[in-house]
Amino acid sequence: MVTPNNGPFPTTNRTGIYAHIVGWGMAVPDTILTNKDLEAIVDTSDEWIRTRTGVQERRIAGERESTASLGLKAAQRAIQVADILPTDIDLVIVATSTPENIFPSTASLIQNWLGAGKAGAFDLSAACSGFVYAVDMAAQSIRSGSIQTAVVIGAETMTRVMDWQDRGTCILFGDGAGAVVLKASDVEGGVLSAVLRSDGSGGDLLGIPTVGSEDLTNPDFSTNGHKMHKMFMNGGEVFKFATRVIGESVEQALSKADLGLEDVALIVPHQANLRIIQAAARTLKVEPELFMSNVEHYGNTSAASIPIALCEAIQQGRVHEADKLVFVGFGGGLTWAAMVVQWTGAKPVEGRSGTFKEQRRQISYFVVRLRSQLRRTMRRINEIVNRVRPKRGRILRLRDQVDRLE
Ligand code: ACO
Repeated sequence: MVTPNNGPFPTTNRTGIYAHIVGWGMAVPDTILTNKDLEAIVDTSDEWIRTRTGVQERRIAGERESTASLGLKAAQRAIQVADILPTDIDLVIVATSTPENIFPSTASLIQNWLGAGKAGAFDLSAACSGFVYAVDMAAQSIRSGSIQTAVVIGAETMTRVMDWQDRGTCILFGDGAGAVVLKASDVEGGVLSAVLRSDGSGGDLLGIPTVGSEDLTNPDFSTNGHKMHKMFMNGGEVFKFATRVIGESVEQALSKADLGLEDVALIVPHQANLRIIQAAARTLKVEPELFMSNVEHYGNTSAASIPIALCEAIQQGRVHEADKLVFVGFGGGLTWAAMVVQWTGAKPVEGRSGTFKEQRRQISYFVVRLRSQLRRTMRRINEIVNRVRPKRGRILRLRDQVDRLE
């Protein structure tokens, strides 16, 4: 089936397969850090933070929480809404700038904990644009016919990479995760278009030096004097960049989908700063209410902010079937990305079958934990056996030599 498309760009490929969002979920830590709490940590004030950023409080991961544990919770909730089994999942992508490790990927950890035994898994690094990048990667894989079902997660523990002496950054960020399930369908809709962009020349404006060179003569590859494993940012420059690219990329994504701003029910932007959202509304000449905003409660949760804002928009009844939504992200890289989605929503789950599937999911999560433990124990036993075996071999060889001497 050839997709009907009157616009300058194809809204989908020629397979006639569409990638629909059929599940969503979010998870944030319980601990709240208010602006007042921050006054005790750095030289700042509740008034300054509120007026310059719109942020009132943010969530902080506890000792037993991490990017992977928050991502897992969000994914499990999304899977429950989609009412699928972990074994239905073909791909798990985690967009994050604060992965559990450089490797193994956070996606692999979550894939295992979910019991998604038939899924591929990888992390995607595009800072605060990461979620939109990841949804596009999953949607492309679905539309190509390569996979049927994907789980896309945006998860961060930004507070673990904060320099708590830098009041220009530590007041902005928070922790959390959001996830969506994408599924193949022959019904038109779902992800209609996407625009992904990067300008690496702005790599020195914000980042988290991790394993790079400390050669201070090369601004592209060095830590540039910034602290290892701590986030740095030139807030003013990022602010200007953000207000410029939001408007541009939203219009480009809409034009690619052959739509205009008048068709849009809701824009879900990356939640960095309320003033950035207000400036973007002015640039696009739309009411600020067209933008979803919850930055006041969570601060900037980087790649998690769009799916968290989407979940809260759904909870608030701001998203309806067939609505055209725009997701727009921007951040380190520099990267930015916008996407148009025709909302599908979850199909109502019939009573008994829903309960039955939920039980199967819970059993699957339990079995997976057990199986992982068992596999680890088996590997350890194997290791010990292998360590003993060569010794036995050497003893036998020695005995052979002794036998021959006799
Ligand atoms: N409390 C009190 N005063 C402060 C604070 C603070 N927390 N931080 C800075 N100031 C002071 C500065 O020192 C400066 O003082 P001075 O005039 O005496 O020198 C004054 O406030 C103004 O500082 P600016 O940096 O110009 O403040 P601005 O209005 O630009 O706000 C902010 C700073 C909030 C960081 C803003 O620039 C911003 O939001 N930038 C965008 C950040 C962003 O969107 N990041 C997204 C990407 S994140 C990612 O990809 C991971």
